[in-house]
Amino acid sequence: MSQTIHVAAGNEWWRNAVVYQVYPRSFADANGDGTGDVEGIRSKIPYLAQLGVDAIWINPWYPSPLLDGGYDVADYRSIDPMFGTLDDAKHLIADAHAAGIRVIVDLVPNHTSWDHKWFVAARAADPGSPERNRYIFRDGKGDHGELPPTNWSSVFGGPAWSRCDDGQWYLHLFDISQPDLNWDNPEVREEFCDIFRFWIDLGADGFRIDVSHGLVKDPSFPDVDLASEILTVGHIDNHPHWDRDEVHEINREWRAVLDEKQADLGKELMMVAEAWVKPGSVPLYLRPDEYHQSFNFDFLGCPWDVSQMRASVNRALVDAASVNSSATWVLSNHDVVRHATRYGLPSGTDYQEWLMTGPAELCDRALGLQRAKAVTMMLLALPGSTYIYQGEELGLHEVNDLPHDVLDDPVWRRSENTRKGRDGCRVPIPWSQTGPSFGFGDNAPWLPQPPEFGAQSVQAQDGVDGSVLEFYRSALALRSTHWVNSGDLTWLDLGEDVIAFERNGFACVTNFGVNEFAPPHGELMLASTQPQREGVIDPNSTAWIDLR
Ligand code: GLC
Repeated sequence: MSQTIHVAAGNEWWRNAVVYQVYPRSFADANGDGTGDVEGIRSKIPYLAQLGVDAIWINPWYPSPLLDGGYDVADYRSIDPMFGTLDDAKHLIADAHAAGIRVIVDLVPNHTSWDHKWFVAARAADPGSPERNRYIFRDGKGDHGELPPTNWSSVFGGPAWSRCDDGQWYLHLFDISQPDLNWDNPEVREEFCDIFRFWIDLGADGFRIDVSHGLVKDPSFPDVDLASEILTVGHIDNHPHWDRDEVHEINREWRAVLDEKQADLGKELMMVAEAWVKPGSVPLYLRPDEYHQSFNFDFLGCPWDVSQMRASVNRALVDAASVNSSATWVLSNHDVVRHATRYGLPSGTDYQEWLMTGPAELCDRALGLQRAKAVTMMLLALPGSTYIYQGEELGLHEVNDLPHDVLDDPVWRRSENTRKGRDGCRVPIPWSQTGPSFGFGDNAPWLPQPPEFGAQSVQAQDGVDGSVLEFYRSALALRSTHWVNSGDLTWLDLGEDVIAFERNGFACVTNFGVNEFAPPHGELMLASTQPQREGVIDPNSTAWIDLR
């Protein structure tokens, strides 16, 4: 491991941004229907500005039957009435911009909803028709075409093919309601270039691209040996539908659209890839004519383990610099068990199994949160941008005991109720200590909140010394003044149980050991465990130290 890591030059906003992920259904409900909405997000812009974020990424808000939380898009150029209107979206973007916050929208190019007008037309059309050619329809195997064309699995469970009334099969790598588009069809390609332009014209500053590694399928449609699984990093080479070389052509096409618009408008645009690929493939998505950034799922997948984390950080920094990009850091999102919970469970725990069978006490919640804060501080001090998932700044845990009858994730349905899926990290945010939904809205929320949300609400933590919220506010403020422009990173060798580095006279030291640790001499700027005792860093804690 080299001692000093070079950070690619460039001062575009996305290189060092703190991006806050808003899951619109669960953020704030302005109209009291139990579901969050655009006006709700807008009402919280002052909160986000005070937190100190540079941008928000908004999960899909398009018209959708919501069979996969909005990732089943029925119309890419509109807002679901449940969330508001296009005018509301314009006002939100304007207010965010006025507060100095950029807006990233979520584009879903791998599949549409089965309610999209293209798919409605495709189903009604004949095999071999232009309407069907926008999707992936095939005849089945077997004497009467009664077997699916390949053995591919849906990421959510069950086969990836479903049969139409006329006997043909359509591909859906996700839910049955999410037919995969045919990216070999120029019409599909043109449509998405146009959708990019539509949202840029509406004011968007960036795009998060869903399943960006899945668009292209092997035209010979071979069987696979391995069942495809969501959130598995490290796909096999030459997989028939993950991370195929041809996706890079599509990336370049989109980048050209963004570059052209950027030149026209004179504002910096960006796109970030959701690519669950093996770490070695990530830099390919980040070449100068492709994505600006890609989520770092390798680090997200690390358990609380000093050597795995150190190696992962080092690799991400080296990879990003090799293609003049910047690293990204993300611990939680709407697809994974919240990290405060992950770090509180014994290493090796199968999270989905634990969600099904417990016991709840297996998670040491206090330890998990302590570690979560320590890792967050480490990431905030590293070069690159950090993505924060709504509620992590309140110290929220996964809600592991949602009653079965409220579970909404297609994973729950398609696994025949053997995996709960992702609802536990999507429970509506508590804004106040009391009320029917702890301030989320005026009525009961679409997913029930646990009683402890009152004590974890924004109201309960606002202005309270030592609260998780105040910790995040302090960390983000110090980050922007001390770390953002600190350039290259030098690893400090302070022992096996410690990850430590220095940038521009500031040190970040995380203690993974079981004993307290004496940090390098200097002035303590912030510690993740408070109150911090003089001259020691507690186990499971990070300290920032001014060495100058
Ligand atoms: C991505 C999204 C996830 C969604 C899936 C299908 O992984 O993050 O929420 O279910 O794509 O669109």
